[in-house]
Amino acid sequence: MENFIFQNPVKLIMGRGMIAQLAKEIPADKRVMITFGGGSVKKNGVYDQVKAALKDYFTVEFWGIEPNPAIETLRKAIALGKEQKVDYLLAVGGGSVIDGTKLIAAGLLYEGDAWDLVLAGRAARKTVPLATVLTLPATGSEMNNGAVISRHETKEKFPFTGNYPMFSILDPEVTFTLPPHQVACGLSDTFVHVMEQYITTPGQSRVMDRWAEGILQTLAEIAPKIRENQHDYQLMADFMLSATMALNGFIAMGVSQDWATHMMGHELTALHGLTHGHTLAIVLPATLRVLRDAKGDKLVQYGERVWGITSGTRDERIDEAIRRTEEFFRSLGLTTRLHEENIGQETIEEIERRFNARKAAYGENGNVTGAVARQILESAL
Ligand code: NZQ
Ligand code: ZN
Repeated sequence: MENFIFQNPVKLIMGRGMIAQLAKEIPADKRVMITFGGGSVKKNGVYDQVKAALKDYFTVEFWGIEPNPAIETLRKAIALGKEQKVDYLLAVGGGSVIDGTKLIAAGLLYEGDAWDLVLAGRAARKTVPLATVLTLPATGSEMNNGAVISRHETKEKFPFTGNYPMFSILDPEVTFTLPPHQVACGLSDTFVHVMEQYITTPGQSRVMDRWAEGILQTLAEIAPKIRENQHDYQLMADFMLSATMALNGFIAMGVSQDWATHMMGHELTALHGLTHGHTLAIVLPATLRVLRDAKGDKLVQYGERVWGITSGTRDERIDEAIRRTEEFFRSLGLTTRLHEENIGQETIEEIERRFNARKAAYGENGNVTGAVARQILESAL
């Protein structure tokens, strides 16, 4: 186990009707800007619950943070927030609204263009406090300090480190209205978050391994049931908690991490608009195929503990573990090959070019360069 310092300050407020807790958590004198996506919250009652809870507050609303939040939109929110002297932010939505709001929180206290903060490559120092009401289990953004911001003008998508939410409210009932494709992508994203922190070098921590395997086993168990009935409170509660626990630092203590699949996935979204969780379903099986030697021991452990693969030679067990992984994504209703999305060699070359330009060396061994990314994406064709 490597040395580590762990701190996660986010207060989790989970359960039915918990949106009403907003007024207990936000100081009464705050000037609150509430940020939203495209309007799903108006159809499922979340907007009404938030407004009722904050009826005695000064609030200003910002609408239209799109999936894969764009700097072009967030600049407008920052301008509005500055004009209204906002000193508290409440993000109501999925990962995109929350991520975008993390950049707004930093942008409100920054004089220059907020894109500088994304390019700076280090955590934003000064931010306005923010909180969240989560409507889509997937990214873990409700309990971490990460964000991913896009720039439409240049078709770029980069990670940004902001601040942690003060608190996040998770009511599983609000997920009942999610489109099935978003449920599939949320399950896929959650699964791959765990894999990025788990399928690395074996023997680093028994505790981390078993927490990771526990989340993967939970997802394998609940995914088919959720596909059948998305209105089951208990299932959606476990999905929500799995997504939060997958990317809030709890399974990353003292162990190495990969994230190469995510970096390739972000490029596929930036270039083709594919939903984040879907890109991962395409890239992860290919990453495992290409890096099967380095990741072999962990793949054997994963195959046995998550999918019950206990027979065959080492190579056969690795093959089967990768096959089961791809099959899992397909069982969610997602495609797992680039050609199925009409993506070909040209995109692979562009991603290789981008990785080379930024001297990319992703993965737990720092060996996923442009050339290796090309191999992986060719394996995904
Ligand atoms: O915009 P509205 O109308 O609200 O509709 C949204 C959106 O169209 C809809 N939706 C959300 N909750 C709903 C709902 N529709 C009906 N009922 C509900 N309860 O779902 C659509 C997608 O929402 P979005 O927020 O884009 O999805 P997600 O939560 O998957 O977020 C994806 C973004 O997060 C980033 C991704 O790259 C992507 O930009 N990520 C952030 C991470 C982080 N902060 O740590 C890590 C992840 O790896 C990921 O990269
Ligand atoms: Zn992700």
